[in-house]
Amino acid sequence: MSRFSRITGTGSFLPPRRLTNADLASELAAKGVETSDEWIVERTGIRARHFAEPDVYVSDLALHACRRALEAAGRGAGEIDLIVLATSTPDMVFPSAACILQHKLGVAGCPAFDVQAVCSGFVYALTVADAMIKTGTASKALVVGAEVFSRILDFSDRTTCVLFGDGAGAVVLEASDVPGILATDLHADGKHAGILCVPGHVSGGQVTGSPLLTMDGQAVFKLAVGVLEDAARAVLAKAGKTEADIDWLIPHQANIRIMQSTAKKLKLAPEKLVVTVDQHGNTSAASIPLALDVAVRSGKVKKGDTLMLEGVGGGFTWGAVLLDY
Ligand code: UT7
Repeated sequence: MSRFSRITGTGSFLPPRRLTNADLASELAAKGVETSDEWIVERTGIRARHFAEPDVYVSDLALHACRRALEAAGRGAGEIDLIVLATSTPDMVFPSAACILQHKLGVAGCPAFDVQAVCSGFVYALTVADAMIKTGTASKALVVGAEVFSRILDFSDRTTCVLFGDGAGAVVLEASDVPGILATDLHADGKHAGILCVPGHVSGGQVTGSPLLTMDGQAVFKLAVGVLEDAARAVLAKAGKTEADIDWLIPHQANIRIMQSTAKKLKLAPEKLVVTVDQHGNTSAASIPLALDVAVRSGKVKKGDTLMLEGVGGGFTWGAVLLDY
């Protein structure tokens, strides 16, 4: 009998501090940085984002999301035998945020590690966990995306600081006799590393280079639009499906224009696109599981629906996961 993996529960968490575009614009104006609600909405679709308080870490946001996912799956943390956490903003250089999360969940022993693929992190993490379940290495995994991008934003750079937010999303992924995850497709091209990066590194007792995010927005935009269509087509072909089989497109939530363009290229009705970027901003590795959980809890996504998850971001990395929920 074949062994597959299947999502049995979802959860998410947003830190309580919510800033609308107007709130952020007035904070930035006090620092001499000019922006507006109108510009942000028109160019990105973002209306609000959440920022964590300074003493809150990625593992804290992840913990809340995981507890909700475990509850939805009807599982206790002690039943989990794998933790994969996608993040680019871990609590510390090491140990991994996944290990810290494991301890906060009150468990020990199971493998726990971080996946670093920036905004593609969740589709990378889901692919790794799916493979580990299919090979019998694990049978009940927590797959998490969590970020505190507010920590790495340059609030004097209006071209980037209005785009990102903090949050976490998680799924419980379990071994199953029926799929589940139908196909996955991952890619990277390191020659584009410089267009979206935080170049600083810890060296000789200090941070060498800038510890803040820099991005060539237009270069990222152009690459994203192309590779998202390619990844979607590749994963459909691997699964022997067509665009018509997709019930919901849940792409990385970076910019509504990129998301709508992908939906259009796949000839999907606009209602099939799950959108949370308006309320969350770009939460990097957290954006897809956050959007998935919102869609599940609002009743949009139902058992048996076919979902196309797609990530794209720094690295350059991109990929897609097609699954039956
Ligand atoms: O998560 C990883 C994936 N990341 C992405 O997908 C991001 C992809 N890129 C984008 O979403 C878009 O390129 C941005 C939203 C970042 C920028 O949108 P754009 O339409 O490419 O704008 P632009 O960079 O061409 O800037 C247009 C104008 C410029 O002014 P001038 O030179 O035309 O006078 C900018 O200085 O908008 C100005 N501008 C702003 N104005 C008000 C840039 N940022 C702001 C701002 N508020 N926050």
